Amino acid sequence: MKNPYQPIEAIIEDIILETPNIKTFVLRPKEYIEFQTGQFVEFGLAGVGEAPFTPSSNPNVKEKIELTIMKVGRLTNKLHILEKGTIATLRGPYGKGYPLDEFKGKDILIVGGGVGLAPLRSLIYALLAHPQDYKNIIIRYGARTPQDLLYKKEILAWSNFKNVNLVTTVDTADNSWKGNVGVVTTILKDLPLNIKNAVAIVCGPPIMMKFTTLKLLELRFSPESIYLSMERNMSCGLGKCGHCRIGKYYVCRDGPVFRYEEIMNIADIWG
Ligand SMILES: Cc1cc2nc3c(=O)[nH]c(=O)nc-3n(C[C@H](O)[C@H](O)[C@H](O)COP(=O)(O)OP(=O)(O)OC[C@H]3O[C@@H](n4cnc5c(N)ncnc54)[C@H](O)[C@@H]3O)c2cc1C
Ligand code: FES
Repeated sequence: MKNPYQPIEAIIEDIILETPNIKTFVLRPKEYIEFQTGQFVEFGLAGVGEAPFTPSSNPNVKEKIELTIMKVGRLTNKLHILEKGTIATLRGPYGKGYPLDEFKGKDILIVGGGVGLAPLRSLIYALLAHPQDYKNIIIRYGARTPQDLLYKKEILAWSNFKNVNLVTTVDTADNSWKGNVGVVTTILKDLPLNIKNAVAIVCGPPIMMKFTTLKLLELRFSPESIYLSMERNMSCGLGKCGHCRIGKYYVCRDGPVFRYEEIMNIADIWG
């Protein structure tokens, strides 16, 4: 059996500039890495370091993995100056992803903020591989400015699916922007879904996750129907060191996807 902790070499086949500070790295690992949407991998460079990222690509495509990475610090600055053809490393996948079986036959509300649309893109690919298995797929996505919106082409393509209802918003508009202006919670109204048979899946910066969850509760989503992708600083990634602990859980092992019900009574979950 393959050792999931052994790094695998992966060639960077393409690099897509998504926004001024976010790039998508298209990687071809030397061995297939099969992941479930929502699980994460450790991506890095020999001698430099590695960090956790959730693949943004279609989990049904085995030969390539795409990671959408925001430049925030030491490692991600170095990743952003890499060029096509570089050999990097991948390990994983780790953790628990989205429980797709639990979503079947339901209305699915997906709420993303900023680079948080990365794992959600992978989820959307997985859902749209079998769109008939779900009722309405409602996507609400917010970014700071129109320039900061990810995956503009995919967003257009998703909107063309019969059961997809998609709205985007920006915090600050420019003259080119014809859509909604305001944080993502401002587009969580008049949702075409049956709350009693719906799940909500949220990924974004901690402040966005907090206010989106509060809004969903106000809309009468139950705590068990809200799924959150939690991020914590990680060290071992193996459920050993405790760096990524939230209450009794280790995010690397028991998450990163949690139902709000599981973590709602833990202090400081928003980081
Ligand atoms: C399970 C999991 C999945 C993740 N998936 C993705 C992903 O798909 N795409 C992605 O871009 N990132 C993702 N991250 C975050 C990513 O791991 C960090 O951005 C990365 O480790 C930062 O490393 P660094 O050395 O560049 O920054 P550091 O030098 O460690 O940090 C520099 C500064 O940036 C801050 N910082 C660190 N992370 C973030 C962040 N995410 N947002 C804002 N500020 C931050 C730190 O607090 C610090 O102040 C994920 C994290 C986890 C735990
Ligand atoms: S990073 Fe999760 S326990 Fe070490």
